[in-house]
Amino acid sequence: MADDAKSTRRLDLPRVERRAFLRYGMFGAVSAGLGGFGLASLGFLYPRPGDELTGQVPLEDAEQLAAEIQSTRTPVRVPAGGISIVTWDPSNETAMNLYGEDHAIVNGSVGLMALNSQQCVHLGCAVPWCQTSQWFECPCHGSRYNRWGEYTGGPAPRGLDRYSSFVDEGTGMFVVDLGDMITGPARTANALEQPQEGPNCVDA
Ligand code: FES
Repeated sequence: MADDAKSTRRLDLPRVERRAFLRYGMFGAVSAGLGGFGLASLGFLYPRPGDELTGQVPLEDAEQLAAEIQSTRTPVRVPAGGISIVTWDPSNETAMNLYGEDHAIVNGSVGLMALNSQQCVHLGCAVPWCQTSQWFECPCHGSRYNRWGEYTGGPAPRGLDRYSSFVDEGTGMFVVDLGDMITGPARTANALEQPQEGPNCVDA
């Protein structure tokens, strides 16, 4: 699993978002100096992995991003946002009904979607990508999700949650709205119908 995780590309944090991250850090330090907060409060205020980005975040040229994900058959991870970006197929009618309204479509032919892979919808563990099975596999209790983050097995009550996104018409950038999280699709809403494509990375 470690090798698979290393093969997943990380998208670097834009400079402006690094400043936002530093502001969070300074806020935590000032709070500690003033006192009055217990350790539990500080722990709540300090950003967890995946909390550094907020609001609408332009990430990368949408066409290039889609081409890379399709050619490598690997999602692009954005650790600072706690997300994995995957492609989806707008010509799939069920997918279009499920995802067409809230997720980016590039040139009418390929969709992009930002999955919340930082939090399994069972009990919140991070869910890494497994290159061999082409599924997301949770190491905590064995929940599994297909390439579009739809439920395929384990105790999870639904598919992975996701964020709304769009392609900026002016810049062509893929923009994720981290303020607009969308509850994952129901267990039965399996638009992709993707069987496991190789060995699992996590034993069920
Ligand atoms: S937290 Fe993922 S299966 Fe339990």
